[in-house]
Amino acid sequence: MDSNAKLYQDLDRVLVRREDIAVAVKQLGQRITEDYAGRTPIVVGILKGAVVFYSDLIREIDLPLQTEFMSVSSYGAATRTTGVVKINLDLRLDVTDRDVLIVEDIIDSGVTLHYLKQHLSDRGAASIRICTLLDKPARRRVDLKADYFCFTIPDEFVVGYGLDYAEKYRNLPDIGVLSPRIYQQA
Ligand code: IMP
Ligand code: MG
Repeated sequence: MDSNAKLYQDLDRVLVRREDIAVAVKQLGQRITEDYAGRTPIVVGILKGAVVFYSDLIREIDLPLQTEFMSVSSYGAATRTTGVVKINLDLRLDVTDRDVLIVEDIIDSGVTLHYLKQHLSDRGAASIRICTLLDKPARRRVDLKADYFCFTIPDEFVVGYGLDYAEKYRNLPDIGVLSPRIYQQA
């Protein structure tokens, strides 16, 4: 606990500590560096949840990668997906014949990434892989697997390290389970 201590009062518990995140991100960066050796992938961060993970991860990848961002929404302020995906900000780089690595904060139902993968494949990407910080396999609604992930987590609503509830808690350095009283009263 530190300067963010106030935010911690809304958590039931800390699920993944910053030290463990840092180790996992470093290992993941090394794997990606090996797997993409000799190539120049376009690394696509999904705004806003993936930004903290993304900025740490790309600094652990020793490749001449290119950076891109997309913003999609399927949630609003609720804690469950609506199943409807909307692209709010699209790519600028042409992905035709390129290796695309999508970086996401969490895969929950899988609906968002399932849609994005199809979208990028329609645009002629040579390869599309998915890299996620967290995976919540218990809630999958479509057949989707991450090519890379750091942590598998139980079916609980988590915040921190980029993940939000109603745009809050993204700046929490650890990942924690949000106390249900926070969203039940909303
Ligand atoms: P999916 O389409 O259901 O896989 O939704 C993925 C998106 O839902 C993520 O990018 C998050 O923005 C959001 N999401 C899913 N579970 C959580 C959670 O536990 N905490 C915060 N956001 C979540
Ligand atoms: Mg997100």
